Amino acid sequence: MYLILLGAPGVGKGTQSKYLVESKGFIQLSTGDILRAEVKAKTDLGIVAKECMDKGTLVSDDIVLNMIKNKLIEISDNVIFDGFPRTLIQAEKFVDILKDLNKKIDKVINIALDDSIIEDRLAGRLVCKSCGKSYHKIFFKPRKAGVCDDCGGVLYQRSDDNLESVRNRLEVYHSTTKPLINYYDKNGILYNLDGNKESLELFNDIVNVLEEDI
Ligand code: AP5
Ligand code: MG
Repeated sequence: MYLILLGAPGVGKGTQSKYLVESKGFIQLSTGDILRAEVKAKTDLGIVAKECMDKGTLVSDDIVLNMIKNKLIEISDNVIFDGFPRTLIQAEKFVDILKDLNKKIDKVINIALDDSIIEDRLAGRLVCKSCGKSYHKIFFKPRKAGVCDDCGGVLYQRSDDNLESVRNRLEVYHSTTKPLINYYDKNGILYNLDGNKESLELFNDIVNVLEEDI
């Protein structure tokens, strides 16, 4: 199954992807995580991407589409696309990429959440440097402060989780990514879920969508 998790920054796409990887055997393809790895390795792509990511604007469609193409050569079944596509151009070109591979998107889950709640979530987010799992200073504390429960990695705050960048990311989401809800609705593969729920409750809703026949 090819599944897209759609939604504004901070709605829980990464958190839910990790649950799906652990319990349903999915592979998570997060364009944000791939870009952060490039930034960390200081590759040419990473140097270009860092400026956009810190400001909260989007990296160019060409860069992101190439990344996805290369990753899809390595993996095949049960993929979650987390944070991709994010523009209509990405969505349209993604269809062509998948056609060439004899694949299609099966379901798109849109997670909805108010901007004010998103700001609180991102202000308190902590991420594991090793496995990428998200925690929260208040809502989802690790058992031991600063340490990942799962792999013992060090927790850090993302450089784009400051108020200015978060507000920019939300603006970009509303102007550029939100129209994808309508795009996938017209395709008849969109499922809308309420993100303002305890994370395991939301996970349960996602599993129900996955188990529904198309
Ligand atoms: P990306 O890494 O994708 O960031 P994002 O879209 O801004 O989304 P986040 O990762 O911030 O949020 P999330 O939904 O994963 O939330 P999480 O589960 O962590 O992209 C970063 C940048 O890369 C972009 O700004 C752009 O520059 C670039 N980029 C990436 N993809 C691109 C593309 N396709 N095209 C162009 N540029 C691209 O949860 C957030 C917090 O809330 C955590 O603290 C978590 O513990 C907590 N939480 C989660 N669920 C709950 C819950 N149910 N209740 C309470 N707290 C919760
Ligand atoms: Mg994420």
